[in-house]
Amino acid sequence: MDYEVCPVDELPPGTMRLVPAGSITVGVYNVNGTLCALEDRCSHDDGPLVEGDWEPDAGVVVCPRHGSRFDICSGKALTLPAYVPVDTFPVRVEDGVVLVDVS
Ligand code: FES
Repeated sequence: MDYEVCPVDELPPGTMRLVPAGSITVGVYNVNGTLCALEDRCSHDDGPLVEGDWEPDAGVVVCPRHGSRFDICSGKALTLPAYVPVDTFPVRVEDGVVLVDVS
C-alpha cells in the first residue's frame, strides 16, 4: 500500500521525513539524490532507529540506543550489536509527490 510522504521538492538531498505508514513508521531519506525508505525499528532491540543521527554523504543511520550503523538504502547492518538487516521499502515519485510502498 502506498503512503504519501511529501512533495518531491520538499525532500532535497540530505533531508529525511518520518512517515506513519499503517502499523509501522518509516524514514524516507534523500541520499545523494536517491530516495530510500527504512523502517523506524532497529533490528537489534526493536528501538526507534530513524530518530538517530544520520550521515547524508555516506547514506548511513546510527541507532540512538546502542550505536549500530545501518546502510539506509539496503537496510544492511554495518556494525554490531545489530547484525540483521532492517526492512526497506520502494519509494517513487508520481505527479511530483513522493510515495512509499510498505505492502
Ligand atoms: S536497539 Fe539499535 S543497536 Fe540496539
